[in-house]
Amino acid sequence: MAHKSELIASDIDGYLKAQEEKSLLRFITCGSVDDGKSTLIGRLLYESKLIFEDQLSALEADSKKMGTQGDKLDFALLVDGLASEREQGITIDVAYRFFSTEKRKFIVADTPGHEQYTRNMATGASTADLAIILIDARKGILTQTRRHSFIVSRLGIENVVLAVNKMDLVEYSQQVFSDIEIAYRAFAKELGGIEHITAIPMSALEGDNIIERSKAMGWYNGPVLLEHLETVAVRDAAQAKAFRMPVQWVNRPNLDFRGFSGFISSGTVKPGDAIKVLPSAKESTVARIVTMDGDLDEAVAGQSVTLTLEDEIDISRGDMICAAGAPAEVANQFETTILWMADEPMYPGRPYLLKTGTSTVNATITRPKYRIDVNTLSHDAAHELALNEVGVCNISLDRAIPFDPYQDNRETGGFILIDKMTNSTVGMGMIHFALRRSSNVHWQALDVERSTRASIKGQKPVVLWFTGLSGSGKSTIANIVDRKLIALNAHTMLLDGDNVRHGLNKDLGFTDADRVENIRRVAEVAKLMTDAGLITLVSFISPFRAERRLARDLVGDGEFIEVFVDTPLEVAEARDRKGLYKKARAGQIKNFTGIDSPYEAPENAEIRIETTEISAEAAADEIIRQLTLRGIVAS
Ligand code: ADX
Repeated sequence: MAHKSELIASDIDGYLKAQEEKSLLRFITCGSVDDGKSTLIGRLLYESKLIFEDQLSALEADSKKMGTQGDKLDFALLVDGLASEREQGITIDVAYRFFSTEKRKFIVADTPGHEQYTRNMATGASTADLAIILIDARKGILTQTRRHSFIVSRLGIENVVLAVNKMDLVEYSQQVFSDIEIAYRAFAKELGGIEHITAIPMSALEGDNIIERSKAMGWYNGPVLLEHLETVAVRDAAQAKAFRMPVQWVNRPNLDFRGFSGFISSGTVKPGDAIKVLPSAKESTVARIVTMDGDLDEAVAGQSVTLTLEDEIDISRGDMICAAGAPAEVANQFETTILWMADEPMYPGRPYLLKTGTSTVNATITRPKYRIDVNTLSHDAAHELALNEVGVCNISLDRAIPFDPYQDNRETGGFILIDKMTNSTVGMGMIHFALRRSSNVHWQALDVERSTRASIKGQKPVVLWFTGLSGSGKSTIANIVDRKLIALNAHTMLLDGDNVRHGLNKDLGFTDADRVENIRRVAEVAKLMTDAGLITLVSFISPFRAERRLARDLVGDGEFIEVFVDTPLEVAEARDRKGLYKKARAGQIKNFTGIDSPYEAPENAEIRIETTEISAEAAADEIIRQLTLRGIVAS
C-alpha cells in the first residue's frame, strides 16, 4: 500500500501514471449503518490511506487533511464522519468514494441504507461490478438483505460478497457463519442472476478479515475482504461485447471532414471495421479514429472518440454505430423492469421522456404487468408504481430506438425516465425484449389526407379543451359554443366527461390513475376527431397538467385551445347542481376533485373564463370571438 509520505516525495506524474494503469473495481455496499457499513467503508479507506476525489486532490488531501508524515487518520473520527454525513445526507443520494491500493483502484458507491432509499441503492449499483451485502451476524438474513440482493441481481451484478459482520459479537462462531452462508446461497439460487458469492466472516470494528486475517477465526480459509477485492476477476464486460457507440454529435468543421463523436459504450473499434448505423441500417467502414491526441489504431469501451467513415451516410445525434456483424435491435415497444424513484406515482398512460444512450424519446407505460414485492419476490397486480416500487411494465415509444436487452448489455439496455413537466428523473429501467407487435403493427397509409377532410368542410380542425372543477360551468359553456358554431355552419363534435364515462370509459373511476387513463383516451379520440376535420369540444375536469399537455402534443401547433373555466371551489360548491359536493363533504364520494383529489390549474391557457364575472352566454361569445380571430371560423 502506498503511504502518503512516499507519495509526496514521489514524482507526481509517475504516481498518476501508475494509478492509471491499475485496474478499476467499482463496488457497492448494501446494508445499514447498524450493520456496520460506515465502519467497514471507514476501515477500507483508512487502511488504504488514500481518500480522494481524484488523484490530484488526493495529493492535496494527503498533505492537508491527513497531517504530516506517517500520521494516521483518526479512525473513529473518520467513521463518525461517514455515518453522520449519511444521516444528514438524505439529499446525498449516492456518495462515491475513491481509494486505491498497490494492486487496484476502487470506487465504492456508498448509499443510505434505509428502506425508502432503494432508489439510491439502485443508482449506485447500476455501474457496479460487485456488491458487498452486509449482514449482522447476530441477526442473520433480513428482509433488507433480500431486497438488496434482489436489486443487485436485477441490475446484473454477478459478484456478491456476503460480509457476515460483527463476528466478535457471536464469539467468532463458525456455526453461526455457516448457517447464514447456507441460507443465503439457497435464497440467491431462488433469486437467480448472482453468479459468484464469496462469504466472509468479519468484524469491521476489530479489523478481522478486512485487511488482515483474523486470528480469532482460524477455521476460515477463504480470502480476506481486501484481498478478494484486489483479485476478484471482473469480466471486462463492456469491452468484450459487440461494438456500440451512440452518436453524441456530428462533427463537421469543414466540408472535407465529417466525423461522428460519442462515448463507446461497449466493444472495440479499429479502422477498417464494418459498421452498421441504427436505426437507418446503413452500412459503411470505419476510416479513422480521431482524438485530440491524434489518430488511434484501436479504441475501446469507455473512450470518447470521433469516427470517420468510408461512405457519406446520413447520421445524426441519437443514432447508434454498431458492429455490422452484431448490430443492436431497433424497436418502439418493450417489456421492461422499472424501478420508480419519484414521490408522485407512475401512472400508465402518462407521457414521460425515456433517455438511453444519446436518444431521448416520448414514452408511455402502456401496462404494468405486475409489481414485484422485493421482500417476498411475489408478483402482485398493480395499476401504478409508487416510490421505490419495482414493476414489470410494457413501454411504448413514439419512435423506434436502437437497444440491446439489458441482460446482454447494461449500457445499451438501461434507461431512465424523466418527468416532462419538471425535468427530474423519476425512474430507471431495464429492457427485457422488444414486443413483437412493435414490428408487426405498421402505420397504414391513408389515401385521403387529413387536410382534405378538413378542407371540404371549409374549416380548420381544432380541439377546444375545457378544463375546470366539477360544477365550474364547463359543459354549460361548451354546449352554447357548440350551438353557436353549428349556427355558423361549422362541423363540430362535443365530448363530455359524464357522457364518455358512460361508454368508452365506463370501466374507469376517479382514482388518479383512472383519471390519467380517462384523459389519455379522450385525448386520442379528440385527435381522431380533428383528423376527421372536426372542431372538437372536450369538456372534462382533466385535473392534471401532464395529461392536458399530452392532449396538446397529440395535435398540431395551433390546433389546441385550452379553455380554463376558472370558478373558485366555493362558488362551484355553492352551486352544486348535481349534489355531488354535498355527498363528497359527507364522505359518501371519495377522491372528489377540489375536496380530496387535486386540481392543477392551467398556467398558460389560451382562454380563461371567470364565471363569477361573466355569464355562460357571454363566455361563449368570447370564445367564438377568439376562434374568429384565430381564423378557425369565418365571422
Ligand atoms: S376527470 O377528472 O377524469 O376529467 P370527468 O370530467 O371525466 O373527470 O368526470 C367528472 C364528472 O364525474 C363530474 O362532473 C361529476 O359529475 C362526476 N363525478 C363523480 N365522482 C366524481 C369525483 N370523485 N370527482 C369528480 N367528479 C366526479
